[in-house]
Amino acid sequence: MGMAKTKRRYVCQACGSVSHRWQGQCSDCGEWNTLAEEAPATVFSQKHDLSSGGRPIAFEPLDAPGKELRRRPTGLDEFDRALGGGLVPGSAILMGGDPGIGKSTLLLQAAGRIARAGGDVVYVSGEEAAGQVRLRAARLELADAPIRLAAATSVRDILTTLNGMEPPALLVIDSIQTMHSDTIEGAPGTVSQVRGCAFELIRYAKETGAALVLVGHVTKDGAIAGPRVLEHMVDVVMSFEGERSHQYRILRNLKNRFGAVDEIGVFAMADDGLEEVANPSMLFLSGRDAPLAGSAVFPALEGTRPVLVEVQALIVRLQSGATPRRAVVGWDNGRLAMLLAVLESRCGLNFSSAEVYLNIAGGYRLTDPAADLAVAAALVSALADKPLPSASIWFGEVSLAGEVRPVAHPGVRLREALKLGFDRAHGPAGAGEKIPDIRYDELGSLAKLVDRIAS
Ligand SMILES: Nc1ncnc2c1ncn2[C@@H]1O[C@H](COP(=O)(O)OP(=O)(O)OP(=O)(O)O)[C@@H](O)[C@H]1O
Ligand SMILES: [Mg+2]
Ligand SMILES: [Zn+2]
Repeated sequence: MGMAKTKRRYVCQACGSVSHRWQGQCSDCGEWNTLAEEAPATVFSQKHDLSSGGRPIAFEPLDAPGKELRRRPTGLDEFDRALGGGLVPGSAILMGGDPGIGKSTLLLQAAGRIARAGGDVVYVSGEEAAGQVRLRAARLELADAPIRLAAATSVRDILTTLNGMEPPALLVIDSIQTMHSDTIEGAPGTVSQVRGCAFELIRYAKETGAALVLVGHVTKDGAIAGPRVLEHMVDVVMSFEGERSHQYRILRNLKNRFGAVDEIGVFAMADDGLEEVANPSMLFLSGRDAPLAGSAVFPALEGTRPVLVEVQALIVRLQSGATPRRAVVGWDNGRLAMLLAVLESRCGLNFSSAEVYLNIAGGYRLTDPAADLAVAAALVSALADKPLPSASIWFGEVSLAGEVRPVAHPGVRLREALKLGFDRAHGPAGAGEKIPDIRYDELGSLAKLVDRIAS
């Protein structure tokens, strides 16, 4: 064996990429100040010959009888919906989300439901003392749920204990960034610790069939490794979202090795915990009576469920030649820039000397591409200072040429809008299914939209 050589290693705490010199910005993910020096990796100068000395592996046909995919519902329907039907035994789930958004609350509630239904649950808190978790449990009226609770941070202690008992149906680790392994150098929360600890816990889950949930904090400061370094290691990546100032929380599935990722779970945060919101279609409307310039209602689709969302735009004319601001909450920045460019070049509107603010009401984050037309309608309405007709909805995708393109499931969107009292819709040509009580306005292009609103 040759001499071991060592090199300085700087690991991006956001995405895990390694570089050999320090840089202010990660060249892979573009985050700033996320590079931190970590224990040097050992590099052997002599190559190992891997072509002999191993044990033969067994090959299997693809149609070999295997275990059927059995899901265990948590009993929290909105959680199960976002999971795609429940927890898959032996799977690893990463639950990300901003500080204080409600991750521990959600998981304790799910754990409580499973435990009360007779499932064995182990909840390991590395963040809070057992007493703190008990206080939360009391507030959630779960104090009597037979959950095994422990405050621990050593993965060796946790796995030693678990290996001495029947594997639980659910193992919650809150959070992975507080865990440490004595076989790995570095402080808890560094990329190598987070990866190494996750690796051991995931192996335990795979071997025993326990479903594993790892809580992962989303951080930007680079002191702690973020969930992105784990995304490829786990089977399911979920994100718990919302604005802390609003009561609504959305559980999204960003990656799912066992199913689709298009359903969301919707909850409302209350004093006694998260309440499930089975019918979220009205939540993200402001409920104002008088129509306001710059506000447009968009019928979004979240998986199979329609959700009506209010898009709000504000335009402020600048007197001086200062660079105008564009600020977006709840929608894609790049998409807004594109829409503004299309409105300028295809419709002759001028936003160049104006500040543009775009907000999606209720802390909602819009990802449905059909939102383009509603955003454009809000922008044009704000620019012209003319409110849009009340009780109307807008949907359609906008192309660079300024055409309004068809979108998925116009009928579902229209029917839900009608149910909630909207009797006027604007969208792409051909999308107006024959829903007699709704007046459907075909808008083939943005130019036509501008005509309709500004004239
Ligand atoms: N009576 C209450 N006491 C404490 N928190 C409450 C209460 N009622 C509602 N909450 C909500 O619970 C939230 C905290 O939830 P939780 O601790 O589950 O979040 P978390 O995502 O696990 O946070 P952390 O990042 O600190 O681990 C608070 O932000 C608050 O909105
Ligand atoms: Mg927590
Ligand atoms: Zn990075």
